[in-house]
Amino acid sequence: MGNDKLYLRQDIKVEPLVDHWYAWPHLIPPATLARNITERHLKIMDAYISMPSIHANAVKNPRMLGGPFIDYGGKRVDEIRALRDRTKRERSHLIAFSTALGTLSNMLRETATGFSLQPLYEKVPDILRGYVELLYDLNNHASFRLIEPLLYRSEFYDRSQQSIMLSVISNDDRPFVLSTPRLESEDSLHLRLPFGSPVVDDLFGLKSDPRPWYEIKEMVGTEGPADALLRSFLTPDPPRRYAPYNGPGVRWRYFGHACILIESQGVSMLFDPVLSYTYENGISRYTYLDLPNSIDYVLITHDHQDHILFETLLQIRHRVKNIVVPRNSGGRLQDPSLKLLFQNCGFRNIIEAGEMEEIRDGAVQITGLPFLGEHADLDIQSKLAWLVRIGSHSLLFAADSCNIEPRIYEHLHREIGNVDAVFLGMECDGAPLSWLYGPLLTQKMDRAMDESRRLSGSNYEQAMHIINCLNCREAYVYAMGQEPWLNYIMSIKYTEQSRPIIESNKVINTCRERGMTAERLFGEKEILIEPAFSAGVPVAAGT
Ligand SMILES: [Fe+2]
Ligand SMILES: [Fe+2]
Repeated sequence: MGNDKLYLRQDIKVEPLVDHWYAWPHLIPPATLARNITERHLKIMDAYISMPSIHANAVKNPRMLGGPFIDYGGKRVDEIRALRDRTKRERSHLIAFSTALGTLSNMLRETATGFSLQPLYEKVPDILRGYVELLYDLNNHASFRLIEPLLYRSEFYDRSQQSIMLSVISNDDRPFVLSTPRLESEDSLHLRLPFGSPVVDDLFGLKSDPRPWYEIKEMVGTEGPADALLRSFLTPDPPRRYAPYNGPGVRWRYFGHACILIESQGVSMLFDPVLSYTYENGISRYTYLDLPNSIDYVLITHDHQDHILFETLLQIRHRVKNIVVPRNSGGRLQDPSLKLLFQNCGFRNIIEAGEMEEIRDGAVQITGLPFLGEHADLDIQSKLAWLVRIGSHSLLFAADSCNIEPRIYEHLHREIGNVDAVFLGMECDGAPLSWLYGPLLTQKMDRAMDESRRLSGSNYEQAMHIINCLNCREAYVYAMGQEPWLNYIMSIKYTEQSRPIIESNKVINTCRERGMTAERLFGEKEILIEPAFSAGVPVAAGT
């Protein structure tokens, strides 16, 4: 009996946590984490402790979706207080680091007037010294850059505050996770595992490669009641086997949001992985069971929480041969290095790419294209659209690219020619700057300014200009956050009157009137492109 081999069940939810908060990308780099602890986590917890009922009411109000409110129905105040106090105690060095970033910014604003910055190094708060370089732009605006590789090697990167919570999931109903810390519960197994631990790979490898119970128990290190809980998350039943695409053409499958898998010529590519677990819940979808055992390339478009989802990435890390990320601008607080971020979370073979840089693998060619907009005009360079060419067929994954400068696509067309299929996000009513980047600001921003600088994707005109410029024959609107299994990271609920729906409907109608294939993707979709593409005439067959 004890030697029976067991799998990890396909309906086990995995919540990666930092300080008990759901781990989104800004909670990994030390500097952005420090700012989020002081400007988001502690403020939300303080507010909840003093007025829990306000939070309970706000969470019920659909207009407040995604707001800074804790979703525990006004209860569990003592536990939130304990978490706040522990955070203050155990993260005191990061709290001091965050304060110092504010002090440094103020000092530069007041003191750096265009003269040499060298005398100002003495005035840099002690905790930051040796971790920052002071810089002017060509207009004498002073700023600083962080020496990120050193910060990851310092006490400011504390892996012991990372953990993973396992529990059973049976439907799409998950509360929004970014403003509510995850507290312990009887039916959840909280594993103090840093994300980079090899145990993470062994654990999620159990989804396809079974092991005997005694090995699993030793590997995870559970004892007492946790043993029984862990055992209940395992099953002797093998999962359904995945049949990879070995045909002569190209097959792409839409998994929801911006997650698309391409298989062709023996190469597999997975874009912006966000996957649903496997359970019966109405809407048909691809899940973890629909991934190849080995994924040649995971490609990330940009550093937003709906495009870098650790919950998915950690579970597939052991299958991923290479992870391709856009290169950042080098040390800006708001633009942490994705290469360092993934490296320090245990990912291997990270390829950094820049605009117009290429990766070739046999007949497959992947090029990073400029991705403008959707980042509130902040200097953030870690964003790329990916152009994939296989034979003579081309697909462009533009993610949330906002066509704020149409001329760029004219220049691009000269370089890359026509593109057969474009995938474009059209969340054209994006959140204001402060929703995501507020904790990084060291000076209060005028509300009207904040409202004017949004995280918006392309509207109808902007999208049509891309489609026209690149002479696309197929247009797919995606990355709209509409799949119900992604509600927990998206604060979006559209109606037919929502502008992103109206604008994307217009794109689809205009394209269809021209005889093009056009669709707003939802749930699941498979397209097979038959090898006639080698003669320049791709044949797309949808299901
Ligand atoms: Fe985005
Ligand atoms: Fe997005």
